[in-house]
Amino acid sequence: MKAIVLSGGKGTRLRPLTYTGAKQLVPIANRPILAYVIDNISKVGIKEVGIIISPETGSEVRETMGDGSKWGLKITYIMQDEPKGLAHAVRTAAPFLGDEPFVMYLGDNLIGCGIEKFVDTFKTSGADAVILLKPVDNPQAFGVAQADSSGRIVCLEEKPKNPKSNLALVGVYIFSPEIHKAIANIKPSARGELEITDAIQDLITRGAPVHSHVLDTWWLDTGKKDDLLAANTIVLDEWFKRDIRGTIENSQVTGRVTVEEGAVVRNSTLRGPIVVGSNAIVEDSFIGPFTSIGSGTKVSKSIVEHCVILSGAELSHVDRLEDSLIGRNAKVRKCHDKHEALRLMIGDDSVVEV
Ligand code: G1P
Repeated sequence: MKAIVLSGGKGTRLRPLTYTGAKQLVPIANRPILAYVIDNISKVGIKEVGIIISPETGSEVRETMGDGSKWGLKITYIMQDEPKGLAHAVRTAAPFLGDEPFVMYLGDNLIGCGIEKFVDTFKTSGADAVILLKPVDNPQAFGVAQADSSGRIVCLEEKPKNPKSNLALVGVYIFSPEIHKAIANIKPSARGELEITDAIQDLITRGAPVHSHVLDTWWLDTGKKDDLLAANTIVLDEWFKRDIRGTIENSQVTGRVTVEEGAVVRNSTLRGPIVVGSNAIVEDSFIGPFTSIGSGTKVSKSIVEHCVILSGAELSHVDRLEDSLIGRNAKVRKCHDKHEALRLMIGDDSVVEV
């Protein structure tokens, strides 16, 4: 069994962060989302992974993820020249996949468990596809499935106006090579894309068995700021331990706090769960729960809680920063030598609440 991970797309909902980087590389608790995806793939013993990249962000994805040796597997990069849909991505990856079954994982999806159970279902059921489902409040925004009581899928629709159920397709799929024939049968959707949902529906129409699992843990589609903060909170809360490798001087550190190599925390209070990235400096500050501070970031004389601060940023004299996402190398500071006013230089599509 092989795997493909989709890592193209424009990430429009995460602008301005995604003007300069791929959405799949946005860090959750200081690790790119793609790293969690590869963790899950490697845990089921898959050794060959194709990452589908786009011309815009492909080289950054390649540099960050490397050749896969960190996970004991081999990563091959596959260029999808145009964002023409998930089924188009599978078609682009067809030479890599050959006639093996495969896992397809959307690179911006995080789930609160491994995929072992789903791979087992695929192997034991003889299904041509196994899909993951999760009840949601807004099924119109997703692919939607109807399943019978045994979990076999009866029908599927992509972003239906009148959804027949509240079960959304989570971005993790397992396919037999039959999916390639189904993709050859479908036409682009109204949004001009070859939809994987339509290809799976084609399998069903031709009588092929398609099974499902309803996910009983959390699922985060990390497309927006609030989803990202939520993902950061959950990952810090569930997966992080106390691990101090940096230097702590004259500070109070409570709870599950990770301080990476080379980081220095001085005259500060840290209340976990928190991660402080490598070579970051925190001084004269309070860092509250559910905060990730990127590598090389500097925080001084500030109060920060429930925030994601990316690498190289600087915060100084910020009285209280909450529920915020700060981009790479961004600076937030209070200026004492001028009269009190907001002085901003913010990127396109930024949001500032004062
Ligand atoms: C894609 C799929 C959709 C699925 C969703 C999960 O949507 O087409 O069926 O529910 O991912 O993240 P897109 O992100 O392309 O809008």
